[in-house]
Amino acid sequence: MAEIFWMNLAEIDALTAEGVAGAQQAATVDAVEAVRIQYLGRKGLLPQIMKGLKDFAPAERGAAGRSANAFKDSITAAIEARLLALRGAAGAVAGPAFDYTLPGSWRGLGSLHPVSLVITDAVRIFSRMGFAVAEGPDIENAYNNFEALNTPAHHPSLAETDTFWLGKGELLRTQTSPVQIRVMQSHPPPVRIITPGRCYRRDTTDATHSASFHQIEGLYVDRQVSLADLKGTLAAFMRAMMGPDVGVRFRPHFFPFTEPSVECDFSCHVCGGKGCRVCKQSGWIEIAGAGMVDPRVFGKVGYDAEAWTGFAFGMGVERIAMIKYGIPDIRMLYENDARFLAQFG
Ligand code: PHE
Repeated sequence: MAEIFWMNLAEIDALTAEGVAGAQQAATVDAVEAVRIQYLGRKGLLPQIMKGLKDFAPAERGAAGRSANAFKDSITAAIEARLLALRGAAGAVAGPAFDYTLPGSWRGLGSLHPVSLVITDAVRIFSRMGFAVAEGPDIENAYNNFEALNTPAHHPSLAETDTFWLGKGELLRTQTSPVQIRVMQSHPPPVRIITPGRCYRRDTTDATHSASFHQIEGLYVDRQVSLADLKGTLAAFMRAMMGPDVGVRFRPHFFPFTEPSVECDFSCHVCGGKGCRVCKQSGWIEIAGAGMVDPRVFGKVGYDAEAWTGFAFGMGVERIAMIKYGIPDIRMLYENDARFLAQFG
């Protein structure tokens, strides 16, 4: 370790210049560290200079102190500058250490999935009309999914080909309608609920079918609820969801648990009702099944069918999402390609 045997002001200043030059010329981070140890380290020159200050003549002592401070500050600054330059140069092939024109790093904030967007919207719209949200399990029993919904044992949807049976009378629900049963079994009328959820059918996957999909069920039971209430409610919902210009039409249909039953279409959003590939040239897209709750269903849950009437509906969430956002293939909703999903943020 270097040692100073004899010290004066000029010697301190010379050492300062040497240390600064040493730092500036150091070729590596390790070499800079060696300079720091030699000049500023605990066993280096700086402590010796500090110790030597008391040996200066009183008249020189002030100037010597200032030189000692300059020694420390100048060499420290030279070391820091050199380290910055070396570390920057290590990362860059050429040019400046940091390119301020590069775009910032992407935070990757997620966004709601289109299916979630539609459900969130529907919950908001129906809650304005006084509907609460109810939920039921994906694994149901045959009683809630079929029997209580007045679906006869010979109905084709009970067949092995349509339903995922789990054994012991359990199945993956084929519709959200069993939640109607659960709600009516546990709540006396009046009832006003929607139930968004996942459903399962043994469908072969193609552009418009998936073995797992989502429905939003609705149930409104009160005194003197009529088909007009059903039509008004669904039309108001469609307009809030798709825009004020959407056309809504109802066609007679059959469901075991509603009487009368309808299917509800809205005018094709893609062609404005003129006819296109999406609506198969008809100008209309089927979006929901609905009807007046069959008195036999009220009988199953112990509601007095003489005192209460109600309507129910079930609509396809993926259908709405595909039309609303112009998604041509249902499979895009399940592939979770981040580039696709980011468009809905
Ligand atoms: N559950 C029926 C379906 O999945 C839709 C529906 C719900 C029809 C409620 C009438 C009333 O096709």
